[in-house]
Amino acid sequence: MIFYRILDLPPLPEEFLHHSQLKEDTSGYNLVQKLDWGYDHYLNGQLCTPSASRAFDIKHPDYESWCQKNLPFTGYKKIYVWSGLIDNPAIGLVHHDTTGKIVLNYIYDTGGDNVQTSWYIEKDRPLLRNRKPPGTQSDTGHVKYDDLTVLEQTVFEKNTWVLMRVDVLHDIRYITGNRSMFQIRTFDQSVWNRCF
Ligand SMILES: [Fe+2]
Repeated sequence: MIFYRILDLPPLPEEFLHHSQLKEDTSGYNLVQKLDWGYDHYLNGQLCTPSASRAFDIKHPDYESWCQKNLPFTGYKKIYVWSGLIDNPAIGLVHHDTTGKIVLNYIYDTGGDNVQTSWYIEKDRPLLRNRKPPGTQSDTGHVKYDDLTVLEQTVFEKNTWVLMRVDVLHDIRYITGNRSMFQIRTFDQSVWNRCF
């Protein structure tokens, strides 16, 4: 199975990255709870330091018209900004998303030189996961790294458009600083098919 694809799309206009909503104050942000889902998580025997993150949708007509013109295949409804707040080397713990099956990401701040995205299959569980309640790690609850097999790993470069599956268990390793991206989220599988 293919888990991501780099899309040859125009870069986001530079001025979009200076939108006042992207500034580092917390107004307009929903601070997402630190994602440890109530458990200690061990990866290769080491206790993980989970990242905290925040996400909000951009409300600006320039963004909407740019996306309509340049990303018409997404059928987007909202453009989100996802931002990780990192004090220490941290991990975006393994999970599948609540908010979509597929995302189109434009990472404008990678959060480090070697930030790795991995996809996994869990022992005795299906690859593609179902919708889950917010605030949970997976549709079957707690996921342990010891039960996972890596299927794919990659390091995404800055300022590229990446279409990726988020209905498969995935995590983000080796984050050393703030990591930020624009994100278009969808449950519509046809968006995926249209890009292959
Ligand atoms: Fe995710």
